[in-house]
Amino acid sequence: MSKPIYDQPFWERLWSNTLREHADKVAQRAPNAHLVGEVGNLHPGRALDAGCGHGADTLWLAAHGWHVTAVDFSASALAHGRSMAEALGADVSERIAWVEGDLATWAAMPGAFDLVVCLYVHAAGAVDEMVRRMAKGVAVGGTLFLVGHRPIDPATGAATAAAGQVQVSVESAVAALDPRHWEWVVAEERPRSIAGTGVDAVLRARRLS
Ligand SMILES: C[S@@+](CC[C@H](N)C(=O)[O-])C[C@H]1O[C@@H](n2cnc3c(N)ncnc32)[C@H](O)[C@@H]1O
Repeated sequence: MSKPIYDQPFWERLWSNTLREHADKVAQRAPNAHLVGEVGNLHPGRALDAGCGHGADTLWLAAHGWHVTAVDFSASALAHGRSMAEALGADVSERIAWVEGDLATWAAMPGAFDLVVCLYVHAAGAVDEMVRRMAKGVAVGGTLFLVGHRPIDPATGAATAAAGQVQVSVESAVAALDPRHWEWVVAEERPRSIAGTGVDAVLRARRLS
């Protein structure tokens, strides 16, 4: 069997099939536990959810007062997120801009966001370039929050669902940012909530200058 290429047609096909068959399940997805734990007590401002997918994290951020720009290159995933936001009411939906864009070329204006979140996104190119591109969007004093599903479960050595994808790791993220301008608040692997799925690299950095 040939290896999947994690490009736009792959994700669009995956999201349109998943949403056709399991829209109710997707609609019930809780926001990411690492995000809730790390970002829950930040003062809300402008946030970017890069690779937002079905939008559970975008919705949670907007419901907590953030003005969110939610970017993904799957039109089906964005349409689902938008309709979920509308169902929650104008208070939430008016705080979200849904943007169809490819993160390989779409870039935030430098310093435009108080919070940039990028969860479980496969980097099509080099990870350090992706981390730096995300970091550019963060304002001084703002937060960069990245999570990557590691391809191997360290407890068993077994491949996880992220095998074959290039997601952010602790080493790659820490190496990508200049310590003169960034302070790492969290940079470690943490267990995932579903047993047998290995660990996540959880990365939270604050822009100093
Ligand atoms: C594994 S899903 C994660 C979705 C969401 N962040 C979450 O944690 O539930 C990866 C998402 O990234 C999006 N994605 C991957 N590469 C992308 C790119 N180059 N530009 C925009 N979106 C991308 C996919 O369409 C998909 O929705």
